[in-house]
Amino acid sequence: MRTDMLSRLLALLLCWLTTAAAQAADQTDALREGGWPLSNAEYVGADTCKNCHQAIKAHYAHTKHAIAFERNPDSPLEERNCEACHGPGSAHRDNPSEHDSIVAFGQESELPKAVVNGQCLQCHDGGERTHWDSSIHDANELMCSDCHNPMARFSRKGLQRFSSVNATCMACHKTQQAEFRKRSHMPLLEGKIACVDCHNPHGSSTDPLLKADNVNQVCYTCHQEKRGPFVFEHAPVRENCSNCHKPHGSNHEFLLKVARPFLCQSCHSHSRHINDMLPAEATPAGPFTDARVAGRSCQNCHAQIHGSNHPAGVRMHR
Ligand code: HEC
Ligand code: HEC
Ligand code: HEC
Ligand code: HEC
Ligand code: HEC
Ligand code: HEC
Ligand code: HEC
Ligand code: HEC
Ligand code: HEC
Ligand code: HEC
Repeated sequence: MRTDMLSRLLALLLCWLTTAAAQAADQTDALREGGWPLSNAEYVGADTCKNCHQAIKAHYAHTKHAIAFERNPDSPLEERNCEACHGPGSAHRDNPSEHDSIVAFGQESELPKAVVNGQCLQCHDGGERTHWDSSIHDANELMCSDCHNPMARFSRKGLQRFSSVNATCMACHKTQQAEFRKRSHMPLLEGKIACVDCHNPHGSSTDPLLKADNVNQVCYTCHQEKRGPFVFEHAPVRENCSNCHKPHGSNHEFLLKVARPFLCQSCHSHSRHINDMLPAEATPAGPFTDARVAGRSCQNCHAQIHGSNHPAGVRMHR
């Protein structure tokens, strides 16, 4: 029984190693074809790098990678330390000012983007990054290093490029940053939630990079009480929270897309109410506003807008 398990594990390991090796071979091919100085380089060891890069050496020492690679390497690849990411360094050691003599990260690098990102994916393929390939960030030529800087600890966790996840995302997504400043907003700038509570920046099968199968499932992770089940459901709530709410922020209270009663009236144009409780300008009979529509408007009566569990809650009155 135990040997059986062991041999299966070994088979799995072998399988993984061959895939990893095949991937590495693909990358080497891509480099050879490009004729880069780096293509024929050999590994020289981290001490050589550190001799010239003293400042880097000091900052890097506090990162998760340095701790893992230098104190407790799990594989020959990890033992290469600097060169696990930057590739073999002999060509660069001999001629440091030559461009692309080593894998340099960042948008200025002329090496194929897939090769550069591939350096990280040697160890970080799959998992959270199952959908990385041709995700919107990959398709827009983002590099791992647009969000991560492994050379020092700039963020408390996650080796972010800036001081936090949110700061990193907002470096590019200015529109969304502004949304979180609107009158009603998710408490993100207050530090209570982060972009990655709802989005997976590494790719997702749900647009736009959502962390769950649909918008509602994302919202339920924190607002469980809205999941129901309800005896009387309000159809648009079940369908999509975005029917009424903005995800980041809005100038209307409670992140609503449209102010009430217009929100309700955008779908309920003909109700059986005496005057349809429409605001002044919309009443055929002329200027007339029903006081009951003011303020919380329709919800003065239809209070349980997300669904009701009351036996008499068919109109969401209670
Ligand atoms: C002989 C000294 C020396 C050694 C050894 C050395 N470097 Fe460098 N490295 C430099 C210099 C100088 C530069 C700046 C080159 C420039 O700006 O033109 C540099 C630049 C770099 C860059 C940026 C390249 C770019 O195009 O932006 C990286 C990455 C790098 N080194 C990594 C390494 C690694 C990893 C090692 C060990 C394998 C290493 N270096 C060994 C001197 C060295
Ligand atoms: C986990 C992968 C990884 C490891 C390990 C790593 N680097 Fe880097 N290195 C990067 C990335 C990514 C960047 C680009 C950072 C940025 O965007 O500024 C970089 C940038 C650099 C640069 C140029 C930019 C700068 O900050 O001046 C140098 C030089 C460098 N690394 C040297 C080293 C040396 C020396 C080591 C080993 C002591 C090392 N790196 C280990 C990933 C790594
Ligand atoms: C040789 C394997 C290897 C390579 C190559 C590698 N990593 Fe890592 N990475 C690790 C290990 C091991 C850890 C530590 C895991 C732990 O301690 O839980 C790690 C951790 C991380 C973390 C999490 C840090 C944290 O604070 O939780 C990030 C982010 C990361 N790596 C990004 C990158 C990026 C970006 C690259 C390419 C520039 C890269 N890695 C290249 C092995 C690697
Ligand atoms: C658009 C920004 C962005 C890009 C591009 C990006 N990451 Fe990340 N990554 C993040 C954020 C944000 C986190 C932190 C997630 C958290 O704290 O939950 C993270 C976390 C990680 C982690 C640690 C947690 C985990 O998922 O295991 C690793 C490893 C990692 N990234 C690797 C990579 C690699 C490899 C690439 C390139 C293929 C990459 N990332 C590209 C934003 C990005
Ligand atoms: C280096 C710039 C950059 C950074 C940093 C960045 N993004 Fe993006 N992101 C883009 C680009 C470019 C697109 C493509 C669509 C666009 O133009 O908005 C995009 C698209 C997206 C989309 C999908 C938009 C859509 O319409 O489908 C989401 C969601 C997203 N990013 C979230 C994030 C999150 C979360 C982070 C932080 C972890 C982040 N981004 C960091 C550049 C960036
Ligand atoms: C509470 C969950 C949540 C948080 C937190 C969140 N988002 Fe979103 N985001 C969404 C949802 C849901 C959508 C899709 C809305 C839709 O499809 O109607 C979205 C859409 C987007 C889009 C696509 C364009 C748009 O605005 O509709 C981008 C880009 C984006 N988010 C970036 C970010 C960034 C950057 C952060 C952090 C600063 C962030 N999001 C934080 C839930 C969230
Ligand atoms: C990571 C947890 C989290 C997720 C996911 C989340 N929310 Fe929130 N939401 C919060 C927190 C925290 C508050 C603030 C509550 C407070 O201040 O009492 C909040 C507040 C709200 C408010 C009230 C805002 C106000 O002005 O009072 C609405 C509406 C809301 N969320 C809707 C949504 C929708 C729609 C989604 C899905 C797109 C969603 N939430 C996803 C955590 C979350
Ligand atoms: C038909 C429109 C509509 C839909 C769809 C909708 N909401 Fe709301 N939501 C409202 C209105 C109106 C308010 C204003 C406060 C109130 O009356 O409860 C509100 C308030 C909220 C609040 C803050 C007050 C509270 O009740 O905690 C949260 C959180 C919230 N909604 C989450 C959600 C989530 C999650 C979804 C999707 C499952 C959703 N909403 C779908 C109309 C809607
Ligand atoms: C996106 C469209 C949409 C919005 C916005 C909307 N509703 Fe609805 N509502 C529906 C649909 C669809 C039904 C189900 C109608 C049916 O079953 O015949 C419904 C059902 C109802 C019912 C029960 C009607 C019945 O016949 O049992 C009430 C009451 C109601 N909504 C009130 C409101 C109020 C109040 C608002 C504003 C806070 C609102 N709705 C916003 C689409 C919407
Ligand atoms: C003063 C209390 C009150 C207010 C305010 C109110 N309603 Fe009603 N509404 C009712 C009652 C009571 C019923 C049930 C009527 C019936 O069963 O014949 C009802 C029924 C409904 C129905 C289902 C029956 C139909 O007519 O199709 C809808 C939809 C509806 N209201 C939407 C709204 C909207 C939208 C608003 C805001 C513009 C609103 N209500 C404001 C009390 C109110």
